[in-house]
Amino acid sequence: MKDWKPESIAAQGLGWIDEATKALAPPLHPSTTFIRDPDNQYRTGHVYGRDHNVTFAQAEAVLTALEGGHASLVFASGMAAATAVFQALAPGDHVLVPEVMYWSLRNWLRGFATQWGLRVEVIDMASLDAVRRALQPGVTKLVWVETPANPLWTITDIAATCELAHAAGASVAVDSTAATPVLTQPLALGADLVMHSATKYLNGHSDVVAGALVTREESPHWQRVRAIRAQLGGILGTFEAWLLMRGMRTLYPRVRHACASAQAIAEHFAQHPCVAQVLYPGLGEFPGHALAARQMRGGFGGMLSVRVRGGEAAAIATAANVRLWKRATSLGGVESLVEHRASVEGAGTPVPADLLRLSVGIEDAGDLIADLDAALASPVT
Ligand SMILES: Cc1ncc(COP(=O)(O)O)c(C=O)c1O
Repeated sequence: MKDWKPESIAAQGLGWIDEATKALAPPLHPSTTFIRDPDNQYRTGHVYGRDHNVTFAQAEAVLTALEGGHASLVFASGMAAATAVFQALAPGDHVLVPEVMYWSLRNWLRGFATQWGLRVEVIDMASLDAVRRALQPGVTKLVWVETPANPLWTITDIAATCELAHAAGASVAVDSTAATPVLTQPLALGADLVMHSATKYLNGHSDVVAGALVTREESPHWQRVRAIRAQLGGILGTFEAWLLMRGMRTLYPRVRHACASAQAIAEHFAQHPCVAQVLYPGLGEFPGHALAARQMRGGFGGMLSVRVRGGEAAAIATAANVRLWKRATSLGGVESLVEHRASVEGAGTPVPADLLRLSVGIEDAGDLIADLDAALASPVT
C-alpha cells in the first residue's frame, strides 16, 4: 500500500477490509465504551467515546495518508478544528493571520481569541515582506495561512512563509480547505499543521459538518490540540465520520472535475460584458497565478468569484436568477452554489459588494455557463 498513489488510497479508504466479515464497506462503530482486558488493561487503546472512536480513527488514517502527515484529528466542524489550534496557544502569544480568510474564524479571532489574550495581528499574507516585518522572533508563535483564501482566492507562498516563520521560531498552520490534498500538500512544503473544513470537498456532498487537522509531527502543541478535543469534546459523530470516509473515496475525481469546470467558467466569464472581473488563480492575469501554478498540482481549485457590472444590486439579482446553480452558502459539494458574499460577511469585510462567490460542483460545465449567462442577462428588478 506504501506505493499506492493518493487517488488509490482515497478510492479504497486505505484498502481497509473488515476482517471479521470480509466486508468491503466499513461498518459503523457507534460504541461509546469498550471492554477492559481481564488483567485490567485496555490493549486495543479504546476506552471511551470522547477520546476514542473506531470509525473516526479510520477517517483520520485516510486523511493522514492523503496529506502525508504524522497524525490527524477529526472535529465536529471546521471551526472546532481551527479554534483548537489557537486555543492550544497561551495567553500573550502573538499570532499572524491573513486579511483575506474565512470570515467566521476572523470574527472569532477578533472577538473571543483577543479577549482571551492572544495577540492577533492581521496582515497581507500574500506579501512575504509583510510577513517578514510582522514576525517577532521568539514571540510570534503561529502564522495562519489560508490558500487559496476565501473568497478572493488570494494565494500565499507556503514554502517561503514557512521558511520565514520557522527562522523566527513560529509554527505555520494552513487552512487548505479550498486546495484539498488533491491540489496542494502543505506539510511537504514545510507547514506544521493542515486544517480542513471537511464539510466542504473532503466530504463533498453537503450532508456533513466536520473539521480536520493533520500534523507533521508529534509536537507539544499537537498534544495540547489533542487534549483540547478530548476535554472540550468537539468530536465528530460516528455516522458523520462514516459519511466523511465515504465522501473521501470520490475526492480525487470530484475535485478534478470541479477544477476543469471552474477553469472553463473563469475563462468564459472573464470575457463577459456583464462581468467586471473574475477572481480565479487559474487565470493568467490573476496576481497569484504564477505562484499557484508552482504550488498547486493538477488544477487551481473549484472556487472562483465574479464581480458583476452594475454593483451590488446586479450581483444580488444574478444570484436570484440562476436555476441550475443553487443560491446557498458553503462550498465544495457536488452541486454548484452561488452566493452574494458581502451579505453574509457584513461590516468590516474586505469583500466587494458586487462579488458573487461560485463553488463549482460536478454538473456539466456547459450547463453551468449557460445558466449563469442567462442569469446575468436577466433584468435587475
Ligand atoms: C476556508 C474555510 N475554513 C473554515 C471553515 C469553517 O468550517 P465549518 O463550517 O466546517 O466549521 C469554512 C467554512 O465555510 C471555510 O470555508
